[in-house]
Amino acid sequence: MSLTQDLGGRILRSRALAALASPHGVDRYLEQVNPMWAAHEVRARVVAVRREVDVAGEPPVTTLTLQPTATWRGHRAGQHVQVGVDLGGARRTTRVFSISSAESGPGERFTLTLRANPDAPAGRGVSRHLAQDARPGTLVHLSQAEGGFVLPDRVPEHVLLVSGGSGITPVMSMLRSLQRRTHRGRVTFVHFARSPGHVIFADELAAARASGHGLDVHVLHRRLGDPALSPVLLERLVPGYRDVPAWACGPAPLLDAVQAAYAEDRTGAPSAPLHLERFRPPVTASPADAAGEVAFTRSGARAANTGAPLLEQAEALGLAPEHGCRMGICFSCTARKTEGTVRHVISGATSSLPDEDIQICVSAPVGDCVVDL
Ligand code: FES
Repeated sequence: MSLTQDLGGRILRSRALAALASPHGVDRYLEQVNPMWAAHEVRARVVAVRREVDVAGEPPVTTLTLQPTATWRGHRAGQHVQVGVDLGGARRTTRVFSISSAESGPGERFTLTLRANPDAPAGRGVSRHLAQDARPGTLVHLSQAEGGFVLPDRVPEHVLLVSGGSGITPVMSMLRSLQRRTHRGRVTFVHFARSPGHVIFADELAAARASGHGLDVHVLHRRLGDPALSPVLLERLVPGYRDVPAWACGPAPLLDAVQAAYAEDRTGAPSAPLHLERFRPPVTASPADAAGEVAFTRSGARAANTGAPLLEQAEALGLAPEHGCRMGICFSCTARKTEGTVRHVISGATSSLPDEDIQICVSAPVGDCVVDL
């Protein structure tokens, strides 16, 4: 960053200018002049669109290359970012996507690889909008990169990367970063896809496999008769795998299988560290919690408590609460619980405080519950 840019940035972020721009903030004015100017917010312009997978009758998978504003602080391999788009003049809708490119520095370009979600309600599908309609020039709003599913600065001698389906994106960021760092150790990459046509980054994985350089790439297709992931399969692909630190991302059954394979063996011997990135939180709400009634006071909707997270119960009643990630990351679903107890479906912790702000996507009611929605 040049001296003039740094000075300009400091002036734009100064309290004096913020006071002058009140109540809208400096970024509202800068955005009117040039959407790529920002003092605090992070925005990005799509500069390239690439279709990765296009299987007939299925939602496409697309990679977007983004040029962020200078306020982007960069990302570590494996992290994700919240992406907000203004759909059809409605309020901004946010979703979380993993970054697929190698680690980036401040203001540097990066890529998102995303699959259109066919189940998104009409007009509210961020992934569908980005995967199908984004063009060079499309503008999006971003958070800074987030998440602790990252490679350490000192990468172990041997690393195991496991992914399934579109869970390949953060793991691919790790692989690309290791290649860019010219990692001298071994990397074993195990990826599950439904068929050869479903493999995202197929050409790049084939090239990586052919390159050797301490890199073993295994792409497995269940339809072709490959067995599901098991300790036996892992041992065959990565002898002594329990001593190899692993990073895994993908559907819950795959992650559960990796977790089981890394659990204590019969001798109680610990395994190497295992890092998991789940797309959806494991739902730990107990069927015993599904009692009483859930009431949404502002809308007047109420129904028997099914034990599902409050966001799902509200949607089942025809409500459309604001939300983003649906996994407890973005806080855009926060609502006020006025009465009752909720269980956090990730941590399992319960809370009975009255007039409490909760994330309704990861809060399941335990018995009667009243929410201001
Ligand atoms: S929707 Fe993101 S935290 Fe609930």
